[in-house]
Amino acid sequence: MVNPKYHVFVCTGAKLRGDAKGICHTRGVESIIGKLVGEIDDRELSGEVLVSTAGCFGVCGKGPARAVYPEGVWYGNLTPDAIETIAEGHLENGTPVEALRI
Ligand code: FES
Repeated sequence: MVNPKYHVFVCTGAKLRGDAKGICHTRGVESIIGKLVGEIDDRELSGEVLVSTAGCFGVCGKGPARAVYPEGVWYGNLTPDAIETIAEGHLENGTPVEALRI
């Protein structure tokens, strides 16, 4: 995948200085990543959506957080249900989910 339609960055909670297991890590980001990858596979979007892990976005109080590019849409307070909604609305149908933006 050289030029994905969407590039999704998911905060793992790693900090450049200090605690390597920040808020997003303690709020279960592993299950969020697993849900996201599952949604991408189920919707056959793996050729269009690249998922990368990232360090702290600086919005820890709203974690787990992720960002979708090229639009630069940030989502927070992620739950498995929110991941499903974003996968359907944004990644599959191209419309950012306003209610989940931060
Ligand atoms: S630890 Fe995820 S935004 Fe800071």
